[in-house]
Amino acid sequence: MSEIELNLQTEQEKGLQSLAAINSLPELEVWKQSFLGKSSLVMTTFGKMGSFSKEERPLVGKAVNAVKVAFEAAFASKEEVLKRDALLQSMESEKLDVSLPGRAARRGRLHPINLSLREIYRIFGDMGFQVYSSPEVETDDMNFTYLNIPPYHPSRDMWDTFYTEDENVLLRTHTSPGQVRSMREYYPNPVRVILPGACMRYEQLDQSHEIEFMQFELLVVDKGITFADLKGTIEDFTKRMFGPGADTRFRPSHFPFTEPSAELDMACVFCGGSGCGVCHGTGWIELGGCGMVHPRVLQYGGYDPEVYSGFAAGVGIDRTTLLRYHIDDIRYLRNNDIRFLEQF
Ligand code: PHE
Repeated sequence: MSEIELNLQTEQEKGLQSLAAINSLPELEVWKQSFLGKSSLVMTTFGKMGSFSKEERPLVGKAVNAVKVAFEAAFASKEEVLKRDALLQSMESEKLDVSLPGRAARRGRLHPINLSLREIYRIFGDMGFQVYSSPEVETDDMNFTYLNIPPYHPSRDMWDTFYTEDENVLLRTHTSPGQVRSMREYYPNPVRVILPGACMRYEQLDQSHEIEFMQFELLVVDKGITFADLKGTIEDFTKRMFGPGADTRFRPSHFPFTEPSAELDMACVFCGGSGCGVCHGTGWIELGGCGMVHPRVLQYGGYDPEVYSGFAAGVGIDRTTLLRYHIDDIRYLRNNDIRFLEQF
């Protein structure tokens, strides 16, 4: 065996021995440099193959190649072992304790207006009413004209609102336009609907007025509907909503879209009727308006007023909520104070 072959054999033993002692990836890199790098015996031997004689060359070539293959195989398996160890180690040291209890998600709750609304749906659902939703952005015709309030009629002043650039489009001031919409949809069948939703008014803000508020409209149209049906329905509602002791009164009033018309008041729950800031010293809180559907409105809805009659009411949900939960300022409902909202 030639000297170079002997050297290679020693190199192989040395290399494999030192590889066996290695137990980290950086050390492994250093090892690779010295045994398989540019200036390693293996590589320099490849580099000077030309200097060997014809007879030597195949023998040396074979020997150096065998060492290189042995080194590469040993390196690869060592690398695999070290990488797996490193992974296991990091899994151990960066371990997540999945048995730790998580942070509980903060549970929200329904807004008091929605709580009231659900109760309202439940009560009227019992009485056979269907919920009908109708747009908050309305046409002037629906909000006024079809409710028997023609353009330039002074009663429009009762419902000042926000207008859009389109002269015929506005934010509805009440849920009453839904009367005409639902009648047109149900015609010629009887109507028994509740229409909830937001309404807007240009108001002087105080303890009981906001520019945006929630209202629900009731509408019943059929043959033979009378004012007694209206009163019975409303009184049944207030007793179920506020308890059997709830005191209500109907006060004669005027709305262009009902005839006769009445205002529905509830005895003030804050002062017991003696007068306070919430009820403006009157002892009563206005919940809404009501009356028998005006013949012209029935006609706009498609019904013949000689055959059909109906009643309608529009009740404030914010006001209902104040009375139900004894909240003394309507502005709490919309100022998003968590301390207030958490009480429901
Ligand atoms: N739309 C009236 C208002 O908001 C209330 C109302 C509804 C009156 C239905 C009579 C009949 O002021």
